[in-house]
Amino acid sequence: MAAFLAGALAATPLRAEAQDDAGLPAGKGREEVELYCSACHSLKLVTQQGLTREAWDELLVWMVEEQGMAEISSDDRKIVLDYLARELSIERVREMRSQR
Ligand code: HEC
Repeated sequence: MAAFLAGALAATPLRAEAQDDAGLPAGKGREEVELYCSACHSLKLVTQQGLTREAWDELLVWMVEEQGMAEISSDDRKIVLDYLARELSIERVREMRSQR
């Protein structure tokens, strides 16, 4: 039983973050953001930020250079950045806040 549970947990490494991703809007790139951005901190830290594309871009650089995030391959980085710029723009986050 314990072995079965351990296996099930290992197969779903994102399970622990599942409740935490509630604030992440649906859309292409959501899974990637969940994958790359939940390793060190809550995704709430991500969803509470509404930034311009340029600012998200700089934040990704900062995450790598100062916070120890592993460099994301350029394909995935584009997917992540597109998602952040689209779904977590200043306007979108303001909208989400007013709906809470
Ligand atoms: C290797 C660990 C690590 C990973 C992976 C990581 N972060 Fe972070 N992030 C940090 C740390 C540490 C801080 C807190 C820095 C501080 O406040 O001094 C932080 C803070 C933040 C903040 C808050 C910035 C602020 O102004 O307070 C945002 C937004 C953020 N991260 C977004 C992301 C996104 C988006 C990703 C995925 C692309 C990501 N992080 C992946 C380590 C990480």
